[in-house]
Amino acid sequence: MKKLLIIGASGLTGYKLANLSAQKFEVYGSYNNRAVTIENCEIFQLDKTDKEKIDSVIKELKPNIIVDCSALHNVDYCETHHEETWNVNVNSPSYITDLCKEINARFIYISTDYVFDGTAKKYNEKSKTNPLNYYGISKLRAEEKIATSGISYAIARTSLVFGWNPGELKGQKSSSGKTMNFVIWALNKLRDGESLKIVNDQFSTPTLADNLAEFLLSLANSTVSGIFHTVGAECINRYEFTLKIAKIFNINRKLITPVSSDMFKQVAKRPMRCCLDVNKAQLLLKVKPLSIEESLLKMKAQEKEMKNSHTI
Ligand SMILES: NC(=O)c1ccc[n+]([C@@H]2O[C@H](COP(=O)([O-])OP(=O)(O)OC[C@H]3O[C@@H](n4cnc5c(N)ncnc54)[C@H](OP(=O)(O)O)[C@@H]3O)[C@@H](O)[C@H]2O)c1
Repeated sequence: MKKLLIIGASGLTGYKLANLSAQKFEVYGSYNNRAVTIENCEIFQLDKTDKEKIDSVIKELKPNIIVDCSALHNVDYCETHHEETWNVNVNSPSYITDLCKEINARFIYISTDYVFDGTAKKYNEKSKTNPLNYYGISKLRAEEKIATSGISYAIARTSLVFGWNPGELKGQKSSSGKTMNFVIWALNKLRDGESLKIVNDQFSTPTLADNLAEFLLSLANSTVSGIFHTVGAECINRYEFTLKIAKIFNINRKLITPVSSDMFKQVAKRPMRCCLDVNKAQLLLKVKPLSIEESLLKMKAQEKEMKNSHTI
């Protein structure tokens, strides 16, 4: 069995990938702040900015494939913490790239729709990048380093990732700067009867973490190098997305009011319309991108299962 190392297995995406790949690979996973247990996965603590530790872990383990699911991705925090952001999002993946070259490992790196400026109707893998904020700049810089390194690699750009994650359900603080994904945040508020003002002018391509994990597993099994847009099937604004959440989880939609982005003072600039084209990934990786309704229904079924097995 090939060895797969997942950096950030305590995160939403890393956790799903670790569970999905456990039967197909010998899986190793790291956490930073939030200790986690995953069946058939050897878990250990690792701060990805600790060069010496990364060096010894990777050289000792000699994984065939490394998937980096970790990042500092609180966009507003990144805007005011440049040095820390660069260290986590650029220096560390650059160093991992060098190590991949040394041990001849394949590197799968997760990037973001925020490498674009949001002015085009739709973005494919050949579209011109133009990040508007420091987070986007840092992710693009890491992409460039990996893509020009000569190693076997895949860059999986994704968008608005959501789903259930044990660490998030316990409210544990993640070093990513994001402790809760949008759907869990909205569900918690709405179930408490809180009214929500949600922007109707920011569009993205929401992606169920389980679906993203399928794309990543396919990339881990592949040898093709390049950029892939690994997202759900639909582009939608935040307000409409929240209405769908309310509909699937039987919550009163009157709690949700549409507002424009001008209502909020956000530190970092956001691209207004980031719709990623998933055709290349769907075709080459043979994974079906899920619609929003399919994704939310899957989450609803998973919640029922977790309640029945008393895991929540
Ligand atoms: N979430 C989105 O909407 C979204 C959209 C586009 C792209 N992305 C990209 O997708 C990837 C995965 O996102 P996600 O939402 O699954 O992330 P997440 O749930 O916030 O988890 C992030 C992971 O990174 C780890 N981490 C953070 N700083 C670290 C450090 N210094 N050393 C080691 N590990 C560290 C965290 O560890 P602990 O929790 O144990 O501290 C956690 O395992 C990221 O690269 C992100 O940039 C996400």
